[in-house]
Amino acid sequence: MIYADYNGSAPLLPSVKDYLKKRFDSDLFANPNAIHSMGQKITLGIEKCREVVANVVGCYPDQILFNSGSSEGISHILFSCLEYAQKNKNIIVTSSIEHAVIPAALKFYEERRGFIIKKVDVDKDGVVKIDSFNKMIAEFGPSIALVTIMAANNETGVIQPYKELSKICETHKILFFSDTTQLIGKEEFNFNESGLDFAVCSGHKIGALTGSGFLIAKNSTLLKSHIFGSHQEKGLRGGTQHYLGIETLAVALDDFMNSKEKLLPLYEARKNFENELKKQYPLTQIIGDKSKRLAGTSLISYPGIHGQAIQIELESHNIFVTTSAACSDNQPETSQVLMAMGIQDDVGRGVIRLSISYHQGVEVYQEILKAMSAAIKKLERIKAY
Ligand SMILES: Cc1ncc(COP(=O)(O)O)c(C=O)c1O
Repeated sequence: MIYADYNGSAPLLPSVKDYLKKRFDSDLFANPNAIHSMGQKITLGIEKCREVVANVVGCYPDQILFNSGSSEGISHILFSCLEYAQKNKNIIVTSSIEHAVIPAALKFYEERRGFIIKKVDVDKDGVVKIDSFNKMIAEFGPSIALVTIMAANNETGVIQPYKELSKICETHKILFFSDTTQLIGKEEFNFNESGLDFAVCSGHKIGALTGSGFLIAKNSTLLKSHIFGSHQEKGLRGGTQHYLGIETLAVALDDFMNSKEKLLPLYEARKNFENELKKQYPLTQIIGDKSKRLAGTSLISYPGIHGQAIQIELESHNIFVTTSAACSDNQPETSQVLMAMGIQDDVGRGVIRLSISYHQGVEVYQEILKAMSAAIKKLERIKAY
């Protein structure tokens, strides 16, 4: 079996599984907010995890706020920046390729709070256009409440120029949030060097437990409580902490830090796989292949053959892929992200997304290539009838 949907959700890392097996036998389960010694041990554990996570993502421990994952982190950041925006700041700048959480939230702030949304376009390679971003900043600068542009795209894997955008925002004193869900734990990332004001992470994207995650805030006084409760997470996020999830975040990120040397071979293996596929089937298109992409992500289209047909063929070989983002996998249409890149339907409907991890070993690409090749050959034959 080959699981090739890591951008949708990563299986638990072997190191996380080992940790949990031992952890379940420990009998250390208690409310971290209790003052008895068991509760306090758990609190100490959470603070240790905060240090480990901060060390891997390049920030200070007190800049990290644990939560349930990116959707919550994004909602919290937007709530803090927009509900509490100064009256003269009524513009939000975003891009046309954000994950569904962002446009859904922005629709609310547009319709219910009167914000005006400005979208920066991407080029045909899936990269946000810096020129049009600069123009927007020049035109609306003082009225911008927040810029929210992702760091790496979940469908194409294309890495965005978030550091450059961040510098521009810093110069103009504009708050900048970049959705780092697909970047953290997959690529080198240093929050404080990036200049970002906010970033997010979802545990299940990096091999930790689902329902765990964190946000990072350069200045945590900008955050406002959006889940009421007791005084957890410095009063900024009510609810008993998901301490097992938090512990797995630290294990997974520590694992990533010690495995970075495996990224380069993954890049190489992907390149060889894509080249070989294009050699065998010259009509094959790799979306965003001119851009820097996440190491294990390929968005592949074979025009004229529907992505779902290839997906089903691959599944018959026990290879699990998606046709776009996992949350819109049942929509047989060209995705918004691909439309923003100017991709036509014959290519856009033909895509399948492979997203794998260095933990699987790069040999999986050989098996995927064999199965892809057999699938295309079969589907081309069927189409010819
Ligand atoms: C770029 C990006 N942002 C946000 C999310 C939302 O993450 P979650 O569903 O874990 O809250 C995802 C999940 O696919 C994502 O890929």
